[in-house]
Amino acid sequence: MTNLTSPPGSPALDAARQAYEAFRARNLNLNMQRGQPADADFDLSNGLITVLDETEFKMDGTDLRNYPGGIAGLPSARALFAQVLDVKAENVLVWNNSSLELQGLVLTFALLHGVRGSTAPWVGQQPKIIVTTPGYDRHFLLLQTLGFSLLTVDMQPDGPDVDAIERLAGADPSVKGVLFVPTYSNPGGESISAEKARRLAGLQAAAPDFTIFADDAYRIHHLSDTERDEAVNFVALSRDAGYPDRAFVFASTSKVTFAGAGLGFVASSEDHIAWISKYLNAQSIGPNKFEQARHVKFLQAYPDGLEGLMRNHAQLIAPKFQAVDEVLRAELGESGEYATWTSPKGGYFISLDTAEPVAARVVELAARAGVSLTPAGATYPAGQDPQNRNIRLAPTRPPVDEVRAAMQVVAACIRLATEEARGARA
Ligand SMILES: Cc1ncc(COP(=O)(O)O)c(C=O)c1O
Repeated sequence: MTNLTSPPGSPALDAARQAYEAFRARNLNLNMQRGQPADADFDLSNGLITVLDETEFKMDGTDLRNYPGGIAGLPSARALFAQVLDVKAENVLVWNNSSLELQGLVLTFALLHGVRGSTAPWVGQQPKIIVTTPGYDRHFLLLQTLGFSLLTVDMQPDGPDVDAIERLAGADPSVKGVLFVPTYSNPGGESISAEKARRLAGLQAAAPDFTIFADDAYRIHHLSDTERDEAVNFVALSRDAGYPDRAFVFASTSKVTFAGAGLGFVASSEDHIAWISKYLNAQSIGPNKFEQARHVKFLQAYPDGLEGLMRNHAQLIAPKFQAVDEVLRAELGESGEYATWTSPKGGYFISLDTAEPVAARVVELAARAGVSLTPAGATYPAGQDPQNRNIRLAPTRPPVDEVRAAMQVVAACIRLATEEARGARA
């Protein structure tokens, strides 16, 4: 760790150090790294726990207590989540508590058997998947754990760098697909434009089985009623482009009802839903129908349904995003002299880039001052940010006054780390 009591430098450095030390003396204990709902968000869904009573163990004519019911989920659950993803119920499979698990299952089936249109299982083809950076660390971990090589392209304000994807996928048949967050991305909150989505859906890839893995975790997580990014429909776009089996779209209720205790689901062509069902059926008799029935009953009865529940979440979460933006603007200005950051219209995160290559130093300084941030580098494969500039901010879990306090510390850390770097160069 760098010595904080190094000799004074410029007046700007001295002032930054003094401001930082004042925060350190306050012995704070704040956490801005957990991409989790707050308890108040969970409380909106507490009705789930008791929504079924002891007389309710049937839905869609199926006894929830017994095995039969179908591998693709309860018809009512498929219909409900089909609306979320803008597809027909036949295009959706509702599974258990995690969309990440579903992504892992689909990728594993692709490795072992190939997807529809594959000439061979992917595992023998040294498969590569394109990911966007900055991005979601668990995507990188999942893909690398399964043995995929990763290729990175930039996440731009209107979605992935599709020019770069076209170049990579057009030239190399071992590039099997792209995995990214199409709406309110993790960490920057960017959403793919309709134009880029159309290009991806119709992309001329060297691999006949090039696949879009769209993790649409934040598709319905708008922060306001009026300013919203429009989610795209990769199932329809791919079909219209002549590649009906090209896309899998994943989502869950982890940040709608209960994190890790909700429902994960996936949309694709009907043929691909049959393909997933076939392999799932070999390892499970079916998903947890009780959880599905509870979600159906709870969400259907919620005032204004899912839209109403998401509006209530937005009321809790939007002020926290606003607090981050306000504090950063007030403390660091808007010129980009110290940092730039995103101002998403939805999702769970804000992506900040420092002007100097000091992200790791900022995270270290913040930790010493009692503010825990996502580790620097986490938004890049193998935890290595080549520019050492990106920091993911997660404002949803702490109360708004703690978000404000934490961001004041973060701003002081950015100032100090920046002045240190500039001082060292002078
Ligand atoms: C982009 C993205 N996908 C998936 C997940 C996890 O989803 P689940 O709980 O459905 O596995 C998260 C959680 O932070 C996420 O940010």
